[in-house]
Amino acid sequence: MVLISPVQGQVKQGVYVITLDNPPVNAISISVRRGLISAVNDFEQSNAQVAVLVGSNGTFIAGADIHEFARTSDGPVLLDVVRVIENCKKPIVAALQGAVLGGGLEVALACDARIAHVDTVIGLPEVSLGIIPGAGGTQLLPRRIGISRAIDIICGAQRLSAEEAKHLRLVDSVVCSDILVAANLFARNIEHKSSVRDELVPNEDPALIDQAINRYTKLGRCRPAIAKAIDLIQAAARLPIEEGLVLESAAFLELRKSQEAQALRHLFFAEKTCRKPPQTKEVAPIPINTVCVIGAGTMGTGIAICLLDAEFSVMLLEQDKEALDKGEERIFSHYQKQVETGKLSPVEASKCLSHLLCSLNWEELAKADLVIEAVYEDMLVKQDVFKKIDQFANPNAILATNTSYLSVDKIALATTRPKRVIGLHFFSPANVMKLLEIVNAKQTCLETLHAVIAFGNRLNKYPVVTKDSFGFIGNRIYNAYRTQCEFMLEDGAWPEEVDAALVDFGMAMGPFTVADLSGLDIAWRMRKTQRKNQETRYVDILDTLCELGRFGRKTSAGYYDYTNGKKQANTSELVRQIIENASQRRRIKRRTLNSKHIQNRALLSMVNEAALLMREGVAQRASDIDVVFVHGYGFPRWQGGPVFWARQQDRQQLQSDIAGLAEHGGNSFVLADISILFESSP
Ligand code: 3HC
Ligand code: NAI
Repeated sequence: MVLISPVQGQVKQGVYVITLDNPPVNAISISVRRGLISAVNDFEQSNAQVAVLVGSNGTFIAGADIHEFARTSDGPVLLDVVRVIENCKKPIVAALQGAVLGGGLEVALACDARIAHVDTVIGLPEVSLGIIPGAGGTQLLPRRIGISRAIDIICGAQRLSAEEAKHLRLVDSVVCSDILVAANLFARNIEHKSSVRDELVPNEDPALIDQAINRYTKLGRCRPAIAKAIDLIQAAARLPIEEGLVLESAAFLELRKSQEAQALRHLFFAEKTCRKPPQTKEVAPIPINTVCVIGAGTMGTGIAICLLDAEFSVMLLEQDKEALDKGEERIFSHYQKQVETGKLSPVEASKCLSHLLCSLNWEELAKADLVIEAVYEDMLVKQDVFKKIDQFANPNAILATNTSYLSVDKIALATTRPKRVIGLHFFSPANVMKLLEIVNAKQTCLETLHAVIAFGNRLNKYPVVTKDSFGFIGNRIYNAYRTQCEFMLEDGAWPEEVDAALVDFGMAMGPFTVADLSGLDIAWRMRKTQRKNQETRYVDILDTLCELGRFGRKTSAGYYDYTNGKKQANTSELVRQIIENASQRRRIKRRTLNSKHIQNRALLSMVNEAALLMREGVAQRASDIDVVFVHGYGFPRWQGGPVFWARQQDRQQLQSDIAGLAEHGGNSFVLADISILFESSP
């Protein structure tokens, strides 16, 4: 079999054109590296005096091939390619379009000039994969743009537009026309080699450098790649380039194996996978352009903003004039703030708002392709609302509920079209949170499922599909986690100790800080509706707090006390007394729980519930669970998610530690066989 190289060279009108074609994004795999070296050598042998390097598939190069990172590398590394380009005796012009990321930018910087299409996206996003640029990026970028900007771009994984890159002298010219034609013209006027590697790092105010370092040192908590990148960028000012490159290569190879890098790679692919519809036969698309949101409360207004940002036409419907006015006001003030803070121009903000219609008239519903219900969390109220929606909505419209816990199957039965009913569980604030749980109910049809996955992608969210089951994926696992944390209060820990241990692990916030923030009364109301089983270990600390009117931050008291909105570091004597009384009632002798113990129990409870969800088929893939926790519940990205965490542990030990949880959980604890988390792929 003859293998065709993904890199081809050909002389066209006196210019040697090197074309890289490795769909979908021209990632630099081993065959590309070999092909590039051979094409540059062929160019040197040819009569052409100048070359243009261009990518097919509408893009330049999206970086090194991330699939290869888990394997030991073979043959030339990317730095070898960069060296061959730099050492080529004749000039090479990079014709940039689409993605010029990571190794793509390093290859471009090795060329003698860069010309970019106006839609090009340029950056060195390696730290978002737990690594650093490994083919000269940390040494070349500061030589061209200075230390502080290089720190911002590399440590912030910033993606620049072509114009921004031109402003920084990373590209020489920006065009709107065909990039190959423009690059050919540009190349004809190039006579000399001009290499970034020979430049000196420009002088700049040391205060600017310190500020950039401080910005990312804080962000870099638990992120070895960020800390390493800062060191190497600074080294560019001190060391000759070859010495800098040796240090960079060693750090790149070391970081590539790190747990952070493995976790971030796992998420990179998990995030792509959840965005794909199930592989089935062709499905007729249902276009969604106009969306009606019902209920102008916290979620309804957040969802409306997220839809307006994505340029949908939005109708916001209410039953209550006052609630509608308040909701409209919230949306307007959101856009006003966007303008005040410079995030949107006045024209952009008014364009978004021009697509909004707020109304009490349900006949407006007929215009919607999709209706999203966000009214009170009450089955009877929701069923009533769905009957009404069914009556007014277009027969082909998709009807979605934003319920957090209720059965979508039951809600669907209130309509005459259960196959068009689905759950769309947004997270608060809906215009910020990237997670969207899609609840595929028993009767939901494939066309509806496909349409809302495409809709979730258009909102730039991660649309994770789940089966209809109490709490779906996220809230079900979060409940198991939070319940375990409540057990730990009774066993001897204080709320601040549990919170600190989990923040130490990397969670954005501890569970009791989160509970106070979202309001204890919501959980209290929910608990009252749930049957309590004598065998179940039930911690009533939250109920006692609520009986005292301590609903959390909104009442300036919950697990913690708040003075002028500021949380007190430790729980008050009163709350400690409530917790001690709870321990006494259960005849528990309180003992100190250390941070590791707290982290372990919290994580084991998540892993156990994750395995149960997989066995019940609620989650389709183990990796979806990680996407849910990272994007919906503040699980640290660099830890990869609860399933990734589990896969890093010794499997037998983990299973036996989870069995140990039963001793804390009472007879109702359901022990899962966790093998499903290890066997399922991804
Ligand atoms: N390696 C391998 N595959 C890649 C890839 C890469 N660098 N970048 C994207 N892909 C794959 C995706 O997995 C996806 O594959 P699939 O269809 O099988 O799921 C496909 O390309 C399309 O990707 P997207 O769905 O993300 O397409 P978009 O058009 O939305 O985005 C993109 C394209 C902007 C290029 C985006 O994929 C991206 O940001 N990729 C990552 C870029 C990156 O991090 N580069 C640095 C790599 S590390 C490096 O270069 C090290 C060097 O310094 C030595
Ligand atoms: P909310 O109380 O802030 O708003 C509900 C709104 O619905 C009110 O404005 C009310 O006037 C309106 N409403 C009630 N009955 C109506 C009817 N028959 N017709 C039209 N409008 C009606 O509630 P919130 O927090 O926005 O929650 C809404 C839904 O979203 C619930 O199902 C909730 O479980 C879910 N959810 C809430 C999250 C949160 O963090 N608040 C997160 C994810 C989902």
